[in-house]
Amino acid sequence: MIDELKKEIEGVKQSFLREIEQLQSPENFTSLKERYLSRKKGIVSQYLSRLKEFSAAEKPQAGQVINLLKAFVEKTLVQIEEKCGSSSGGAEKWNDYSLPASDLPVGRFHLIAAIKWQIEDLFLNLGYEIALGPEVELEDYNFTKLNIPEHHPARDEQDTFFLEGHDELLLRTHTSPMQVRYMLAHKPPFKIISPGKAFRKDDPDATHSPCFHQVEGLLVDRGIHFSHLKGTLEAFCRSFYGPDIVLRFRPGYFPFTEPSAEVDISCFLCSGSRSHKGDGGLAAPQPDCKVCKGSGWLEILGSGMVHPQVLRNCGIDPEEYSGFAFGMGIERVAMVKYGVPDLRLLYENDLRLLGQFG
Ligand code: PHE
Repeated sequence: MIDELKKEIEGVKQSFLREIEQLQSPENFTSLKERYLSRKKGIVSQYLSRLKEFSAAEKPQAGQVINLLKAFVEKTLVQIEEKCGSSSGGAEKWNDYSLPASDLPVGRFHLIAAIKWQIEDLFLNLGYEIALGPEVELEDYNFTKLNIPEHHPARDEQDTFFLEGHDELLLRTHTSPMQVRYMLAHKPPFKIISPGKAFRKDDPDATHSPCFHQVEGLLVDRGIHFSHLKGTLEAFCRSFYGPDIVLRFRPGYFPFTEPSAEVDISCFLCSGSRSHKGDGGLAAPQPDCKVCKGSGWLEILGSGMVHPQVLRNCGIDPEEYSGFAFGMGIERVAMVKYGVPDLRLLYENDLRLLGQFG
């Protein structure tokens, strides 16, 4: 029982101190004093009247704890009274205008917006332009012109949100239709990135969401080949993830690029730096690494050389021009770079999570 009392009294002391900090006027002071020290109903008196509940053995200690609180409250109030006066004196005595202001909560950008801007900045520095496209897209641009054939499973109603009564319209399933829009409207050379939302009929889980964000990249000029793509993505990944990052290009398949490559980066936590053996290899990954789960690699984007048929579909002669394209998911970047374990966390708007980045 005595331990409980001690805990309670400590709580009373803490809330008393908090109230003291908020005192702003002699009226506040008088009512605070009443509340704690009034003979009949004051908080201290209430504790004193509970003394009889304690056994004879505990009573002296309980009395001491309560009296210490009483002495503390009295002493603190006397000090305040001496400094500011209890009933006279203007507000200027109560307010110390020289104190620094208390912290105001300052807003910050959502992690997805912040990453999008970081990626945009890096590509703007490489001379890219930002081009934005609509979220409601023509089926023709989302699929057909991108060389995605009629029978392709992505066109299934299971995978894509079509607009009721408008067979030719859908919510874009990736940002790649912006490639088509840009190529139809501009003559090469050009280099753009196109960030934005994309939609797929996926059930939400740790790595899927029906609405997510991508950044698309496209460069078309004369004489562009795969090493330009490699160099660009290497420059981007090293600025974004760290200068020691190594890239791995794996053969992949996208109907609108040929050849296509999935790009992995070496795990920046456990095998981000080259090994010291001098053989150009990577340091061995840690089997229990939280970021790469021991594989040493992190899959981050899809890419490839723009398929000649896509160039043709968009009025560009593939004999004269070639280009590369890439696309990455912003949520994926957030998960990889900041160790966010479940992408749903990014949409719950819990400030305890979002406040950690910025
Ligand atoms: N659009 C592809 C996707 O959503 C990514 C990609 C973009 C791949 C450009 C190659 C080139 O997965």
